[in-house]
Amino acid sequence: MKMVLLLWILSVISSATLLSTGSLALSEDGLTLLEIMSTWNDSRNILANWQATDESPCKWTGISCHPHDQRVSSINLPYMELGGIISPSIGKLSRLQRLALHQNSLHGSIPYEITQCTDLRAIYLRANYLQGGIPADIGNLSHLTILDLSSNSLKGAIPSAIGRLARLRHLNLSANFFSGEIPDFGSLSTFGNNSFIGNSDLCGRQVHKPCRTSLGFPAVLPHAASDEAAVPPKRSSHYIKGLLIGVMSTMAIILLVLLVFLWICLLSKKERAAKKYTEVKKQVNQEASTKLITFHGDLPYPSCEIIEKLESLDEEDVVGSGGFGTVYRMVMNDCGTFAVKRIDRSREGSDQGFERELEILGSIKHINLVNLRGYCRLPMSKLLIYDYLAMGSLDDFLHGILSF
Ligand SMILES: *[C@@H]1O[C@H](CO)[C@@H](O)[C@H](O)[C@H]1NC(C)=O
Ligand SMILES: *[C@@H]1O[C@H](CO)[C@@H](O)[C@H](O)[C@H]1NC(C)=O
Ligand SMILES: *[C@@H]1O[C@H](CO)[C@@H](O)[C@H](O)[C@H]1NC(C)=O
Ligand SMILES: *[C@@H]1O[C@H](CO)[C@@H](O)[C@H](O)[C@H]1NC(C)=O
Repeated sequence: MKMVLLLWILSVISSATLLSTGSLALSEDGLTLLEIMSTWNDSRNILANWQATDESPCKWTGISCHPHDQRVSSINLPYMELGGIISPSIGKLSRLQRLALHQNSLHGSIPYEITQCTDLRAIYLRANYLQGGIPADIGNLSHLTILDLSSNSLKGAIPSAIGRLARLRHLNLSANFFSGEIPDFGSLSTFGNNSFIGNSDLCGRQVHKPCRTSLGFPAVLPHAASDEAAVPPKRSSHYIKGLLIGVMSTMAIILLVLLVFLWICLLSKKERAAKKYTEVKKQVNQEASTKLITFHGDLPYPSCEIIEKLESLDEEDVVGSGGFGTVYRMVMNDCGTFAVKRIDRSREGSDQGFERELEILGSIKHINLVNLRGYCRLPMSKLLIYDYLAMGSLDDFLHGILSF
């Protein structure tokens, strides 16, 4: 009977021990910390006392808790040579007030879930290898007073949501790859260049560097509170979009200027051609096959009179004939006299070549050359109009001497 009682007592004790062991299992925050540790490379074995068999994580290295509810209030592990990433599980530490992981070797991005730790007062992540952008919802951390992300590899735009952090007293984003305009809004307006040094692509009032678009106008990037929900990549794509629009409009303007220039060129060329054409046209008769061209404006008669005179030339007016054609004397109504050389149309080649040569001849004035006054094309013949030399032609003169 005694034995049975003893066994019963023993079993009660052991089951009570078992029960109590069950109730002493690791707290939620402790399990979360183990998840966070699982993504770290603790090469110095600093976290050896983070044991799953403990009841509470509050005595673990680097951990502090709120005294009343034993919730984790602080992770303090700077200079620990920790590698790996910051686990998204950190979002479950809803009472966390201080996260100090500076001077480690953490990489990866700052998890977006960190913005769920709405009790956070201080974030120290200086001197790691963190990449990516700052979560835009960082504006939800309304108690945040210290944000030090300096000396990482963070990039993208600085979210304007930081401006909503009314209690922010210390901000350091130095020595990263942030770009674009620093929003000049809320608390972001209170920090000077010390908070942003070493980000060569940043611009804005705080760094004394005006933002310019590719067109040279001051950039107008939206930085109102309305874009608080935007995540950094979106912001940076916004920036790239702006840049792209700038580049494209510059190219469009260049193209337009080029087009206008070409158009003006074409127009002036056309104008010149038209001018040339009217110069000649003035003297072109209605009949398409009849054309009169005068040089130097040297033939001060209306073209109808000249053509009439030319058409009425006949045998009586012949003053001589040579290998190239017949020479006539043409007397105008005012008794002005000219020599006209007729070239039969059957004799020559292309009109254009001929006319061009005549234009050259007509443009020359020389004391030893008989002035070519004009040129006329009639249906049946071509006529060259020269000054009339009363003494006769050189041909006459030469042949006359020989014939004496
Ligand atoms: C952890 O860090 C040590 C030294 O810092 C390195 O040799 C090892 O490869 C790392 N392990 C992992 C999984 O990153
Ligand atoms: C931040 O706050 C906004 C509105 O107050 C909410 O919609 C959003 O879900 C919050 N973000 C996080 C990560 O809690
Ligand atoms: C920061 O600003 C101060 C004046 O506000 C100026 O004297 C200093 O040269 C600036 N430093 C840099 C690195 O731009
Ligand atoms: C920010 O950090 C850089 C380098 O980590 C340091 O030189 C600078 O003085 C810091 N600025 C402020 C305002 O603490």
